[in-house]
Amino acid sequence: MTRVTADVDPDDVPSNPSDNRHIRDVLSRRAVIVGGTVVAAAGFMTTPAAAHGKPGKPTKPAKKLLGFKAVAANTDDAVRVPEGYSAQVLIPWGTPLSSKGPKFKKDGSNTAAEQRQQIGAHHDGMHLFPLTGSSGLLAVNHEYIDTTLHYADGSATMTKEKVDKAVAGHGVSVVKVERNKKTGKWELKDSLFNRRVTADTPVKFSGPVKETHALLKATGSPKGTINNCSSGYTPWGTYVTCEENFNGYFGTDESFTPDAEQKRYGITAASGYNWHKSDARWDIAKNPNEANRFGWVVEIDPFNPLSTPVKRTALGRIKHEGATVTESKGRVVVYTGDDQDGEYVYKFVGDGAWRLRKLLGQSPLDHGTLYVAKFNDDGSGVWLPLEFGKGPLTKANGWKDQADVLIRTRTAADAVGATKLDRPEWVAVNPGNKDVYLTLTNGVGNGGKANPRTPNPYGHIIRWREKNGDNTALSFTWDVFVLAGDPAYDSAVNLGPDAIFGSPDGIGFDTDGRLWIQTDISNSSQTLPSRGYDNIGNCAMLAADPTTKEIKRFLTVPRGAEVTGLTFSADGRSLFVNVQHPGEASTAWGTPTPANPRAVSNWPDFDPAGRPRSATVVITKNDGGKIGT
Ligand code: FEO
Ligand code: CA
Ligand code: CA
Repeated sequence: MTRVTADVDPDDVPSNPSDNRHIRDVLSRRAVIVGGTVVAAAGFMTTPAAAHGKPGKPTKPAKKLLGFKAVAANTDDAVRVPEGYSAQVLIPWGTPLSSKGPKFKKDGSNTAAEQRQQIGAHHDGMHLFPLTGSSGLLAVNHEYIDTTLHYADGSATMTKEKVDKAVAGHGVSVVKVERNKKTGKWELKDSLFNRRVTADTPVKFSGPVKETHALLKATGSPKGTINNCSSGYTPWGTYVTCEENFNGYFGTDESFTPDAEQKRYGITAASGYNWHKSDARWDIAKNPNEANRFGWVVEIDPFNPLSTPVKRTALGRIKHEGATVTESKGRVVVYTGDDQDGEYVYKFVGDGAWRLRKLLGQSPLDHGTLYVAKFNDDGSGVWLPLEFGKGPLTKANGWKDQADVLIRTRTAADAVGATKLDRPEWVAVNPGNKDVYLTLTNGVGNGGKANPRTPNPYGHIIRWREKNGDNTALSFTWDVFVLAGDPAYDSAVNLGPDAIFGSPDGIGFDTDGRLWIQTDISNSSQTLPSRGYDNIGNCAMLAADPTTKEIKRFLTVPRGAEVTGLTFSADGRSLFVNVQHPGEASTAWGTPTPANPRAVSNWPDFDPAGRPRSATVVITKNDGGKIGT
């Protein structure tokens, strides 16, 4: 068996020095590595799991969920969908928000002012808010920019204009889209709803951390949202967008030593973007508290284009991957992963009925308790409160108040004894039985039954059932739903050729109960035999039956890209996904340059003088049926 090296993104190396238990110390290494049995065992925990039902049990009799023919793994520079399905490209990076707006320039020479009026770069989480008929407002995150592809001259000298164009490429787009009844295609429509939120848009703070807090006092008033990764939507019709790797935007050329809290969030003098060289806003030595204004969940009202985005501080400050909102007993519950190796998964439980809060003119996201998960090896788990004055979070231990706990969420979670995980990404809640699924994308191996493979280059999906199926409960039972990978490289993996995948990231249910899984294989691993990723091919989206565990590959994306973002039209007959970072530098395919931005991919335009760009893709079934049937 070829040894597979764990793949570690520079962004994702652990910065968690706490001695919270590595459960690998408990289990023998042999048991972990050899062990299909370890994984299987985790799925059949008896005590105390049986006390309140183990995850996976359906509430309705099973019906055949996956009706399509699987797409073969491949390395094509294309989007592939099953026979009988079609895919169309919608709103690629640079599309003007208005038909009268500035057109995309394929040589990368659009200005910052033009980018502010165009769709941003690197589409990620999204949600379609239905309007009438076959129209809706599509809110799309723009996670980051590729410095080589974003400009005509690539990463040559950073200027203020280039920083401004990058800042404008980040954030969120809200656009009206509609299905043309004649052509069957989705189109961007001119609309007063169309807007951009960028890393420069004025924002407000709400909840326990006020913008007047001493640690948020920085140059100018709070602006912008950044590294918007995944997202969620609330039952009251708003979009929640999540700030992930905010640390990477800060740097300095001054002499600088990060303090303990900066270190805990991965802030260093080196910046991947070098914005600080021409804009002191991003200089961590000159403007240190600017970094405390990021790492939050941000609420945007797509139906009010004049509304100010609000940072909902009660949900904590971490590298938020996403925010999956559900309801239980009239209360709002938000699950959110902190995507870095060795970090935690969190849950916010609203205080009182959310409808009553809304009636009182309050935000249900401003009132409640944040918890962090502890997974026990016996298949049980508990939610530990991050509340000032409770447990170790006391004045005697140096905690000032609840705002202090929330600004330093990671440190608070260390203190209460949360379980380290192999990079927690998206969370999905099964609409049928309320089981909760979490993708753990990959990692060096945090050990224990919750992280059953060391190292873990392919990741896995863990799931839990809250006590009595109540998502506000403070205890749960869990198992490993699937160990990702390729049996050719790891005999513990139980997946056939139509199902092998690695590095799960996006995840979500449709209304029929299909579980959709999207992968983000690092570009240092994609398609490489040395990484055990050759049979898996390009990144993919798969559908799974949560009861039978049948998994089938539904879609594959172009070279260098990940597939992310997941939303359906109201009738379930159009599926929207995002193809992010096609053509990014990758070990297998090479490195794009300003002279040849097409070195890896030229999707979706395939213009001989163009460049690859992220885009939304809409999938429909040719017979007009529901997706996945
Ligand atoms: Fe932005 Fe963890 O992916
Ligand atoms: Ca992601
Ligand atoms: Ca990822």
